[in-house]
Amino acid sequence: MKKTVLAFTPISAAMIERLQHDFHVIAPTPEQGDPVEHFNEALSHAHGLIGVDRKLDRALLERAVKLEAVSSVSVGYDNYDLSYLNERGVMLTNTPGVLTETTADLGFALVMSSARRVAELDRWTKEGQWQASVTANQFGSDVHGKTLGIVGMGNIGAAIARRGRLGFNMPILYSGNSRKLALENELGAQQCSLEQLLANADFVCVVVPLSEKTRHLISHEQLALMKPSAYLINVSRGLVIDEAALVQALLKGQIRGAGLDVYETEPMTHSPLFTMRNVVTLPHVGAATFECRSAMANRAIDNLRAALLGERPRDLVNPHVWKE
Ligand code: DGY
Repeated sequence: MKKTVLAFTPISAAMIERLQHDFHVIAPTPEQGDPVEHFNEALSHAHGLIGVDRKLDRALLERAVKLEAVSSVSVGYDNYDLSYLNERGVMLTNTPGVLTETTADLGFALVMSSARRVAELDRWTKEGQWQASVTANQFGSDVHGKTLGIVGMGNIGAAIARRGRLGFNMPILYSGNSRKLALENELGAQQCSLEQLLANADFVCVVVPLSEKTRHLISHEQLALMKPSAYLINVSRGLVIDEAALVQALLKGQIRGAGLDVYETEPMTHSPLFTMRNVVTLPHVGAATFECRSAMANRAIDNLRAALLGERPRDLVNPHVWKE
């Protein structure tokens, strides 16, 4: 008998079709009734779960008594209770690699858009406010030649740094525990403390995964170290930045602006950040391109297929639970 795969967020028809080759697939949709109820009822039948951006806590996972694997269509896996999955020996997989360049594109788009006020001036032009030549009120900041600080030089951080160094001749600073000699040679990047980075970078890009260590890594004290002309960019997880502290820093003019793709609470419809003209706000779209989402979906299916059909999945977050 086929094992059952349950989608915990909407998945595409193409994904359902691929999964149906090997599994019985349950993908709750509003057309079939309340998706939350449907999901909750189906949990006890699921051998595998697949989806993204939904909190799967212990209380929910406990109901999935047959669960063998959770496949996340994301690189971040902070939404899942990993210690409980480990306790149960349930495999967790993610989709690293496939979204590196796409997310770096968006990180750099936020650098450009914040500095040159792209979104704000687009609105201003469309509102019919361009009635005379622009003045200093519409000026932005240069990007080329400015110092780019990468907080968390992983794959995405390195891809943003490459864009800055090779495309815009930006000196690169990075903070983090491990030294990246290859990148230092390739890009002339310099490792420094977080404090030095904050004090010297013109653009501070936050690209660390969320963990207990990185929660509110950037708060009042850190924001106070930044230059008044600097911009803060976040494409990692909202909780890495203390959002209330950021709002205050922006209101006080402690920094010049911010470019944000992620927030402490997601999704959300109201925030003081949404009212600030010097903050570019996007709805968590770092990896949201047709090409990237399709590559991520296929990678997540490959992982789940392997896990449920007895092969070692390629992207196992908790390899110690793997049993031949
Ligand atoms: C990721 O892959 O972690 C993206 O942020 C989507 O959640």
